[in-house]
Amino acid sequence: MNLQALIEDIRQQTLPFYDHGQVADYIPALASVPPHQFGMAISTLDGRHYACGDAEQPFSIQSISKAFMLALTLQVDGEALWQHVGKEPSGNPFNSLVQLEYEHGIPRNPFINAGALVVTDRAIRHFGDAHRQLLDWLREESGAPGLAANERIAASEREHGDRNAALAHFMKSYGNLRHPVEQVLEQYFHNCSIEMSCRQLARAGLFLANHGVSPVTTRQYLSRSQAKQVNAVMLTCGTYDAAGEFAYRVGLPVKSGVGGGLLAVIPGKMSIAVWSPQLDSRGNSVLGLEALDRFTTRTGLSIF
Ligand code: DON
Repeated sequence: MNLQALIEDIRQQTLPFYDHGQVADYIPALASVPPHQFGMAISTLDGRHYACGDAEQPFSIQSISKAFMLALTLQVDGEALWQHVGKEPSGNPFNSLVQLEYEHGIPRNPFINAGALVVTDRAIRHFGDAHRQLLDWLREESGAPGLAANERIAASEREHGDRNAALAHFMKSYGNLRHPVEQVLEQYFHNCSIEMSCRQLARAGLFLANHGVSPVTTRQYLSRSQAKQVNAVMLTCGTYDAAGEFAYRVGLPVKSGVGGGLLAVIPGKMSIAVWSPQLDSRGNSVLGLEALDRFTTRTGLSIF
Protein backbone atom coordinates (compact mmCIF):
# COMPACT_ATOMS: atom_id res chain seq x y z
CA MET A 1 0.00 0.00 0.00
CA ASN A 2 1.37 3.43 -0.94
CA LEU A 3 0.64 5.36 2.27
CA GLN A 4 2.16 8.58 0.94
CA ALA A 5 -0.15 8.64 -2.08
CA LEU A 6 -3.07 7.69 0.12
CA ILE A 7 -2.66 10.54 2.60
CA GLU A 8 -2.15 13.05 -0.23
CA ASP A 9 -5.40 11.85 -1.74
CA ILE A 10 -7.20 11.98 1.61
CA ARG A 11 -5.99 15.54 2.02
CA GLN A 12 -7.54 16.54 -1.30
CA GLN A 13 -10.80 14.85 -0.32
CA THR A 14 -11.06 16.57 3.05
CA LEU A 15 -10.19 20.15 1.98
CA PRO A 16 -13.82 20.82 0.89
CA PHE A 17 -14.74 20.49 4.58
CA TYR A 18 -13.06 23.81 5.39
CA ASP A 19 -15.51 26.13 7.15
CA HIS A 20 -17.72 23.28 8.36
CA GLY A 21 -16.38 24.12 11.81
CA GLN A 22 -14.84 26.95 13.81
CA VAL A 23 -11.48 27.62 15.42
CA ALA A 24 -11.68 27.44 19.24
CA ASP A 25 -12.20 30.92 20.64
CA TYR A 26 -12.88 30.35 24.34
CA ILE A 27 -9.09 30.53 24.71
CA PRO A 28 -8.53 33.86 22.88
CA ALA A 29 -4.93 33.08 21.89
CA LEU A 30 -6.19 30.08 19.89
CA ALA A 31 -8.73 32.17 17.97
CA SER A 32 -6.03 33.86 15.88
CA VAL A 33 -4.78 30.62 14.28
CA PRO A 34 -5.31 30.73 10.47
CA PRO A 35 -8.20 28.29 9.96
CA HIS A 36 -7.42 26.82 6.54
CA GLN A 37 -4.58 24.48 7.46
CA PHE A 38 -4.38 20.70 7.28
CA GLY A 39 -1.53 18.36 8.09
CA MET A 40 -1.26 14.60 8.44
CA ALA A 41 1.68 12.41 9.46
CA ILE A 42 2.17 8.70 9.99
CA SER A 43 4.99 6.91 11.81
CA THR A 44 5.19 3.14 11.53
CA LEU A 45 6.77 0.67 13.91
CA ASP A 46 9.21 -0.42 11.20
CA GLY A 47 10.62 3.10 11.05
CA ARG A 48 8.82 4.69 8.10
CA HIS A 49 7.46 8.21 8.19
CA TYR A 50 4.92 9.81 5.87
CA ALA A 51 3.64 13.37 5.91
CA CYS A 52 1.55 15.75 3.82
CA GLY A 53 0.15 19.28 3.88
CA ASP A 54 1.00 21.34 6.96
CA ALA A 55 2.54 18.39 8.80
CA GLU A 56 5.59 20.45 9.83
CA GLN A 57 3.57 23.33 11.25
CA PRO A 58 3.61 23.45 15.08
CA PHE A 59 0.20 23.77 16.76
CA SER A 60 -1.10 23.79 20.31
CA ILE A 61 -1.53 20.14 21.32
CA GLN A 62 -4.05 21.05 24.06
CA SER A 63 -5.84 17.95 25.35
CA ILE A 64 -3.61 15.55 23.41
CA SER A 65 -1.17 16.28 26.24
CA LYS A 66 -3.63 14.42 28.51
CA ALA A 67 -2.86 11.10 26.83
CA PHE A 68 0.89 11.53 27.41
CA MET A 69 0.30 12.80 30.94
CA LEU A 70 -1.85 9.76 31.72
CA ALA A 71 0.89 7.44 30.48
CA LEU A 72 3.57 9.29 32.42
CA THR A 73 1.53 9.17 35.63
CA LEU A 74 0.35 5.59 35.27
CA GLN A 75 3.98 4.59 34.98
CA VAL A 76 4.74 5.86 38.48
CA ASP A 77 1.34 5.79 40.19
CA GLY A 78 0.14 2.41 38.92
CA GLU A 79 -3.29 1.20 40.01
CA ALA A 80 -3.47 3.81 42.80
CA LEU A 81 -4.31 6.39 40.14
CA TRP A 82 -7.72 4.82 39.53
CA GLN A 83 -8.82 5.59 43.08
CA HIS A 84 -8.74 9.26 42.14
CA VAL A 85 -10.15 9.21 38.61
CA GLY A 86 -12.56 6.87 36.81
CA LYS A 87 -12.34 5.18 33.42
CA GLU A 88 -15.87 5.58 32.09
CA PRO A 89 -16.99 7.84 29.25
CA SER A 90 -18.72 10.96 30.51
CA GLY A 91 -21.15 11.64 27.66
CA ASN A 92 -20.67 15.28 28.59
CA PRO A 93 -18.51 18.10 27.21
CA PHE A 94 -14.84 18.10 28.24
CA ASN A 95 -15.23 21.01 30.64
CA SER A 96 -18.55 20.05 32.21
CA LEU A 97 -19.07 20.40 35.97
CA VAL A 98 -22.32 18.47 36.38
CA GLN A 99 -21.14 14.94 37.17
CA LEU A 100 -18.55 16.01 39.72
CA GLU A 101 -20.97 16.72 42.54
CA TYR A 102 -22.99 13.54 42.08
CA GLU A 103 -19.77 11.56 41.99
CA HIS A 104 -18.13 13.16 45.03
CA GLY A 105 -15.28 14.92 43.27
CA ILE A 106 -14.03 11.84 41.38
CA PRO A 107 -13.93 12.72 37.66
CA ARG A 108 -15.32 10.19 35.20
CA ASN A 109 -12.09 9.74 33.25
CA PRO A 110 -8.55 11.18 32.84
CA PHE A 111 -9.36 13.05 29.61
CA ILE A 112 -12.12 15.42 30.66
CA ASN A 113 -10.56 18.54 32.14
CA ALA A 114 -11.37 17.56 35.74
CA GLY A 115 -9.71 14.18 35.22
CA ALA A 116 -6.61 15.69 33.67
CA LEU A 117 -6.30 18.08 36.62
CA VAL A 118 -6.34 15.10 39.01
CA VAL A 119 -3.75 13.26 36.89
CA THR A 120 -1.56 16.38 36.93
CA ASP A 121 -1.92 16.57 40.71
CA ARG A 122 -0.83 12.92 41.04
CA ALA A 123 2.09 13.57 38.68
CA ILE A 124 3.24 16.55 40.77
CA ARG A 125 3.33 14.22 43.77
CA HIS A 126 5.83 12.00 41.96
CA PHE A 127 7.79 14.41 39.80
CA GLY A 128 7.45 17.84 41.41
CA ASP A 129 7.61 19.62 38.07
CA ALA A 130 5.27 17.38 36.05
CA HIS A 131 5.26 19.78 33.10
CA ARG A 132 9.02 19.62 32.82
CA GLN A 133 8.90 15.82 32.97
CA LEU A 134 6.34 15.73 30.16
CA LEU A 135 8.30 18.17 28.05
CA ASP A 136 11.54 16.23 28.43
CA TRP A 137 9.76 13.04 27.41
CA LEU A 138 8.13 14.62 24.35
CA ARG A 139 11.40 16.24 23.30
CA GLU A 140 13.21 12.93 23.42
CA GLU A 141 10.51 10.85 21.73
CA SER A 142 9.76 13.34 18.97
CA GLY A 143 13.44 14.02 18.32
CA ALA A 144 12.80 17.75 18.75
CA PRO A 145 14.86 19.19 21.64
CA GLY A 146 13.38 22.64 21.03
CA LEU A 147 9.77 21.69 21.92
CA ALA A 148 8.22 24.11 24.41
CA ALA A 149 4.98 25.48 25.76
CA ASN A 150 3.77 28.66 24.12
CA GLU A 151 3.75 31.17 27.02
CA ARG A 152 1.25 33.46 25.26
CA ILE A 153 -1.27 30.60 25.00
CA ALA A 154 -0.57 29.46 28.58
CA ALA A 155 -1.23 33.02 29.79
CA SER A 156 -4.45 33.18 27.75
CA GLU A 157 -5.60 29.89 29.28
CA ARG A 158 -4.84 31.22 32.76
CA GLU A 159 -6.65 34.48 32.13
CA HIS A 160 -9.76 32.68 30.85
CA GLY A 161 -9.44 29.62 33.09
CA ASP A 162 -12.29 30.23 35.53
CA ARG A 163 -14.03 27.00 34.64
CA ASN A 164 -10.90 24.89 35.13
CA ALA A 165 -10.26 26.74 38.40
CA ALA A 166 -13.82 25.94 39.49
CA LEU A 167 -13.30 22.23 38.69
CA ALA A 168 -10.03 22.20 40.62
CA HIS A 169 -11.42 23.98 43.70
CA PHE A 170 -14.44 21.70 43.70
CA MET A 171 -12.29 18.58 43.65
CA LYS A 172 -10.04 20.00 46.34
CA SER A 173 -13.09 20.45 48.56
CA TYR A 174 -13.62 16.69 48.25
CA GLY A 175 -9.98 16.00 49.11
CA ASN A 176 -9.22 14.75 45.60
CA LEU A 177 -6.49 17.30 44.91
CA ARG A 178 -3.44 17.35 47.13
CA HIS A 179 -1.49 20.33 45.81
CA PRO A 180 -2.52 24.01 45.70
CA VAL A 181 -5.04 24.71 42.94
CA GLU A 182 -2.80 27.41 41.42
CA GLN A 183 0.12 25.00 41.10
CA VAL A 184 -1.97 22.28 39.45
CA LEU A 185 -3.59 24.74 37.04
CA GLU A 186 -0.28 26.27 36.06
CA GLN A 187 1.22 22.91 35.12
CA TYR A 188 -1.98 21.81 33.37
CA PHE A 189 -2.14 25.00 31.27
CA HIS A 190 1.49 24.62 30.30
CA ASN A 191 0.96 21.01 29.24
CA CYS A 192 -1.95 22.06 27.02
CA SER A 193 0.12 24.90 25.54
CA ILE A 194 2.93 22.68 24.27
CA GLU A 195 3.37 23.15 20.53
CA MET A 196 4.16 20.23 18.24
CA SER A 197 3.81 19.39 14.57
CA CYS A 198 1.95 16.35 13.21
CA ARG A 199 5.27 14.79 12.32
CA GLN A 200 6.58 15.18 15.88
CA LEU A 201 3.32 14.01 17.44
CA ALA A 202 3.11 10.84 15.34
CA ARG A 203 6.65 9.94 16.41
CA ALA A 204 6.01 10.64 20.08
CA GLY A 205 2.86 8.52 20.05
CA LEU A 206 4.55 5.40 18.69
CA PHE A 207 5.02 3.78 22.12
CA LEU A 208 1.23 3.47 22.35
CA ALA A 209 1.22 1.39 19.15
CA ASN A 210 4.06 -0.77 20.45
CA HIS A 211 2.70 -2.08 23.78
CA GLY A 212 4.34 0.72 25.79
CA VAL A 213 7.85 0.47 24.31
CA SER A 214 9.21 3.32 22.22
CA PRO A 215 10.70 2.00 18.98
CA VAL A 216 12.52 5.36 18.69
CA THR A 217 14.47 5.24 21.96
CA THR A 218 13.75 1.56 22.90
CA ARG A 219 12.55 2.72 26.32
CA GLN A 220 9.74 0.86 28.01
CA TYR A 221 7.35 3.52 29.29
CA LEU A 222 4.39 1.31 30.11
CA SER A 223 3.80 -2.37 30.70
CA ARG A 224 1.88 -4.15 27.97
CA SER A 225 -1.18 -4.10 30.17
CA GLN A 226 -0.88 -0.36 30.91
CA ALA A 227 -0.52 0.43 27.21
CA LYS A 228 -3.75 -1.48 26.65
CA GLN A 229 -5.39 0.59 29.39
CA VAL A 230 -4.33 3.94 27.91
CA ASN A 231 -5.50 2.91 24.43
CA ALA A 232 -8.81 1.66 25.83
CA VAL A 233 -9.47 4.94 27.62
CA MET A 234 -8.55 6.84 24.43
CA LEU A 235 -11.09 4.79 22.49
CA THR A 236 -13.91 5.27 24.98
CA CYS A 237 -13.14 8.77 26.31
CA GLY A 238 -10.49 10.41 24.08
CA THR A 239 -12.92 12.47 22.03
CA TYR A 240 -15.40 13.15 24.85
CA ASP A 241 -19.07 13.09 23.93
CA ALA A 242 -18.12 12.15 20.34
CA ALA A 243 -16.31 8.95 21.38
CA GLY A 244 -19.16 6.83 19.97
CA GLU A 245 -19.02 8.57 16.62
CA PHE A 246 -15.21 8.24 16.47
CA ALA A 247 -15.37 4.53 17.36
CA TYR A 248 -18.04 4.05 14.68
CA ARG A 249 -16.34 6.02 11.93
CA VAL A 250 -12.63 5.62 12.74
CA GLY A 251 -12.44 2.53 14.94
CA LEU A 252 -9.19 3.49 16.67
CA PRO A 253 -8.02 4.91 20.00
CA VAL A 254 -7.91 8.67 19.37
CA LYS A 255 -7.11 11.69 21.53
CA SER A 256 -8.23 15.12 20.41
CA GLY A 257 -7.32 18.67 21.39
CA VAL A 258 -9.06 22.01 20.84
CA GLY A 259 -6.00 23.19 18.91
CA GLY A 260 -7.43 20.93 16.17
CA GLY A 261 -5.02 18.02 16.57
CA LEU A 262 -5.89 14.31 16.73
CA LEU A 263 -3.54 11.48 17.67
CA ALA A 264 -4.69 8.01 16.58
CA VAL A 265 -3.08 4.66 17.36
CA ILE A 266 -3.15 1.45 15.34
CA PRO A 267 -1.75 -1.08 17.83
CA GLY A 268 1.04 -3.18 16.40
CA LYS A 269 1.40 -0.96 13.34
CA MET A 270 1.58 2.83 13.47
CA SER A 271 0.54 6.15 14.96
CA ILE A 272 -1.20 8.89 12.99
CA ALA A 273 -1.39 12.60 13.75
CA VAL A 274 -3.81 14.89 11.93
CA TRP A 275 -4.30 18.60 12.45
CA SER A 276 -6.75 21.15 11.16
CA PRO A 277 -7.86 23.94 13.50
CA GLN A 278 -11.59 24.18 12.76
CA LEU A 279 -13.63 22.22 15.33
CA ASP A 280 -17.10 20.75 15.48
CA SER A 281 -19.50 21.58 18.31
CA ARG A 282 -17.92 18.88 20.49
CA GLY A 283 -14.42 20.32 20.22
CA ASN A 284 -12.91 17.87 17.71
CA SER A 285 -11.24 18.76 14.41
CA VAL A 286 -13.73 18.53 11.53
CA LEU A 287 -11.16 17.75 8.83
CA GLY A 288 -9.25 15.53 11.23
CA LEU A 289 -12.26 13.26 11.74
CA GLU A 290 -12.98 13.22 8.00
CA ALA A 291 -9.37 12.24 7.28
CA LEU A 292 -9.19 9.46 9.89
CA ASP A 293 -12.55 8.07 8.75
CA ARG A 294 -11.27 7.88 5.17
CA PHE A 295 -7.93 6.42 6.25
CA THR A 296 -9.36 3.47 8.18
CA THR A 297 -12.17 2.89 5.68
CA ARG A 298 -9.80 2.78 2.71
CA THR A 299 -7.02 0.77 4.38
CA GLY A 300 -9.23 -1.52 6.48
CA LEU A 301 -6.85 -0.76 9.36
CA SER A 302 -8.86 -0.35 12.52
CA ILE A 303 -8.98 -2.33 15.76
CA PHE A 304 -12.26 -3.93 14.69
O1 DON B 1 -8.52 23.32 29.50
C1 DON B 1 -8.97 23.47 28.37
O2 DON B 1 -10.14 23.72 28.16
C2 DON B 1 -8.02 23.35 27.21
N1 DON B 1 -6.69 23.72 27.62
C3 DON B 1 -7.98 21.94 26.68
C4 DON B 1 -9.31 21.44 26.18
C5 DON B 1 -9.22 20.47 25.05
O3 DON B 1 -8.30 20.45 24.29
C6 DON B 1 -10.39 19.59 24.85
N2 DON B 1 -10.22 18.76 23.67
N3 DON B 1 -10.84 18.65 22.67
